[in-house]
Amino acid sequence: MGILEGKRILVTGVLTDASIAFSVAKLAQEEGATVVLTGFGRLSLVERIAKRLPEPAPVLELDVQSNEHLATLAARVGEHVDGLDGVVHSIGFAPQTALGGNFLNTTWEDVATALHVSTYSFKSLAVACLPLMKEGGAVVGLDFDATKAWPVYDWMGVAKAGLESCSRYLARDLGPHNIRVNLVAAGPLRTMAAKSIPGFKEFEDSWPAKAPLGWDLADTIPAAKACVALMSDWFPATTGEIVHVDGGVHAVGA
Ligand SMILES: NC(=O)c1ccc[n+]([C@@H]2O[C@H](COP(=O)([O-])OP(=O)(O)OC[C@H]3O[C@@H](n4cnc5c(N)ncnc54)[C@H](O)[C@@H]3O)[C@@H](O)[C@H]2O)c1
Repeated sequence: MGILEGKRILVTGVLTDASIAFSVAKLAQEEGATVVLTGFGRLSLVERIAKRLPEPAPVLELDVQSNEHLATLAARVGEHVDGLDGVVHSIGFAPQTALGGNFLNTTWEDVATALHVSTYSFKSLAVACLPLMKEGGAVVGLDFDATKAWPVYDWMGVAKAGLESCSRYLARDLGPHNIRVNLVAAGPLRTMAAKSIPGFKEFEDSWPAKAPLGWDLADTIPAAKACVALMSDWFPATTGEIVHVDGGVHAVGA
């Protein structure tokens, strides 16, 4: 028996097979879950990637900036599963001007886009799925440690600080619905989102050396395992938490 046996899980954020969300979907299926995916924009690409999962999974369109997509999400998910036990938010985006050392010059419009897609959407997604979570469940999001000002991460770092706070408020307001809300703060991983950060190499060069456990920039499985564990019945009293899956970098001096 897998730790997600019988659970119905919505996984957002699959873009390539290097996406953290791809590993989450794969592991969730291996642990017994029924998985529904959402994709943004390049749906035919997401559908192609979805075919590489152990079981075929439906792909629904979701742009978290679209009120219409969010308003119809529960009904569309409901065509495939009769409820949800888990929801994975694996979504992040910031315009190029908001990253890479341009912090003092980024316009509000570009910051607003980063916050809308990367921060506010955690709340939008959770609320959109609420009608399907009548028996409670778990919401998990992907974070990058926001307690420090990093090189090049800039407004995405501010967006992640907001995500950490948003997660705590969601934990407060969804707790009475028996829904747990937690984040996994992953170390740097070579995904499309990471490649679009100018200067991401700075993380790649320093992280493996700093991490007490070492760090593999190409291995999304440790972060995915934490997401799956947080959606299982093995964290029944944990909410508003941030689990670091970073080889231990957050715990040691630079
Ligand atoms: N890669 C890393 O180093 C790293 C580290 C820590 C946390 N994270 C976080 O993990 C999450 C997943 O990123 P990833 O690294 O797997 O990269 P990825 O590029 O594979 O995934 C990012 C996803 O965000 C989606 N997205 C962007 N704009 C969207 C929108 N408007 N509506 C819906 N979806 C949208 C993309 O389609 C893509 O699927 C992000 O929140 C990211 O910040 C990544």
